[in-house]
Amino acid sequence: MDDQAKGLRELVERKREKNSKFISVASGKGGVGKTNFSVNFAYTLANDFNKKVLLIDADIGMANIHILLNIDTKKNIKNLFYGKSIEEVIVSSNGFDVILGFSGIDSMEEMDDISISMLISQLETISYKYDYIIIDTGAGIDTKVASFLRASNRSYIITTPEPTALMDAYALIKSIYNMYGYKNFKIVINMAKNKDEAISSFNKLKMSANKFLDIDLDILGFLPNTKNIKKCVTRKEIISKTFPQDPFSLEMKKICALEVQEEIEEAGNFWKKVFNFLGQKR
Ligand SMILES: Nc1ncnc2c1ncn2[C@@H]1O[C@H](COP(=O)(O)OP(=O)(O)OP(=O)(O)O)[C@@H](O)[C@H]1O
Ligand SMILES: [Mg+2]
Repeated sequence: MDDQAKGLRELVERKREKNSKFISVASGKGGVGKTNFSVNFAYTLANDFNKKVLLIDADIGMANIHILLNIDTKKNIKNLFYGKSIEEVIVSSNGFDVILGFSGIDSMEEMDDISISMLISQLETISYKYDYIIIDTGAGIDTKVASFLRASNRSYIITTPEPTALMDAYALIKSIYNMYGYKNFKIVINMAKNKDEAISSFNKLKMSANKFLDIDLDILGFLPNTKNIKKCVTRKEIISKTFPQDPFSLEMKKICALEVQEEIEEAGNFWKKVFNFLGQKR
């Protein structure tokens, strides 16, 4: 038992050295820009802010980060459940590390809730190596998405100004709050026509969350609609790399500048358990 406690204490000390942030990227409605956000956020933190970043494609069964990064999926998250260690499935691309996902309905069944918990625990063991661990999730709310969100220090909810997307973003926030009392959300309004539309969309969401859930939502940023994104998706390029002066890339830099200034508010659930466990052993 002493050895176990010592091992855990060492793990905690290593974690403190890096103080890595777990950030989940989620949305209610699909196709609102989560994956483009996640890839450009990872790229900008790594290349413009010199951060050590791990990006995870956790859109179970519908993975597509490998398409945007133009890399094959031979090594992917599923290998973890066939005896590979987490280090063995990590690939490097564009200055950051990535754990790729997989596609297909059969694979979805293999990735049950126990596998997700196992993945989250394995991530904790390598988290000391990273400043940021960014998890791109699938659209909507299921137990897998909920597990990632509740284990994260912060969850970024991406939405467009469309009323349906706003409604679904609200429904996602409400579900996670009702299930776990989790409140660490930040909102990104993507593809707004202009700043006014973005601000009024955010205010609608903020007012509902205030009134009905007692959550004070923060905005992370407004990302403009830009033709260069489609160009980059088609060419399998990263807009922040190919068009660093595009308004999208400039806004992404602002978001990252704000992000790196923020202290971590709270250790993840796992670490609380570790601290409690160590406390009991003393
Ligand atoms: N700021 C933007 N300006 C213009 N087009 C955008 C912008 N953000 C995303 N898109 C377009 O929207 C589409 C969906 O983007 P993306 O794949 O990132 O969404 P998603 O939320 O990850 O989707 P899914 O729910 O299927 O995982 C992409 O084809 C992309 O070209
Ligand atoms: Mg996606």
